[in-house]
Amino acid sequence: MSAPSWSLTWEDDLDTDGHAELAALLHRCFPRSRRLDGSRSWASARPEVRLVGREDGRAVAHVAVLRRHLRVPGSESGVLVGDVGLVGVDPDQQGRGTGRLMLAELARVLAGWALPFGFLTTADDLVGFYAGGGWVRVPARTRMIEPDERVEVYGGPSLVLPVRSTIADWPDVQIVDRNGYEV
Ligand SMILES: CC(C)(COP(=O)(O)OP(=O)(O)OC[C@H]1O[C@@H](n2cnc3c(N)ncnc32)[C@H](O)[C@@H]1OP(=O)(O)O)[C@@H](O)C(=O)NCCC(=O)NCCS
Repeated sequence: MSAPSWSLTWEDDLDTDGHAELAALLHRCFPRSRRLDGSRSWASARPEVRLVGREDGRAVAHVAVLRRHLRVPGSESGVLVGDVGLVGVDPDQQGRGTGRLMLAELARVLAGWALPFGFLTTADDLVGFYAGGGWVRVPARTRMIEPDERVEVYGGPSLVLPVRSTIADWPDVQIVDRNGYEV
């Protein structure tokens, strides 16, 4: 098996066929999602950019990023993060190290943009996967707009990747506001 080749696609550059290919991949990765139903390549917020891994030209891995400032108590401007979501590896490729390679490639991309931190919200059972890529669970819970427009505090883990900053620079707060949808 060859390692995937990675490329960035900016959202404005994705044409109909590109969306269809990624929608199909994400539907395979998230078969129970009502929003990733095979016709849409995003679930809540549309990202700015997608990092796609391909093998023999076929998209097998995907992660998306939207840069935003999280609002935190005590900070006027907030904390700049690469907000990460739509993390998926094709089921027929899972468990072979592709996800780990993707997290490493993602970290390189975030560093190239000189971002202080990566940020994501996830489920409890995936914290270990992200920890393997250097992501750290922080105490803060994340307030955000749900797809049905309700503003809610997410009950699951919030994770941070120190990129240009160290984890000691992450604000010691109990809540951060996304002021938007999850990617
Ligand atoms: C989560 C996912 C991206 C991992 O990709 P992958 O290619 O299977 O992961 P890898 O083979 O590189 O595994 C890397 C490490 O993470 C662990 N890991 C992988 N999937 C995991 C999971 N679902 N839960 C916990 N740990 C996991 C592996 O055991 C491995 O650990 P090790 O280094 O101790 O051996 C993939 O399983 C997937 O697409 N799942 C469905 C979609 C999803 O849940 N995405 C995340 C949404 S937040």
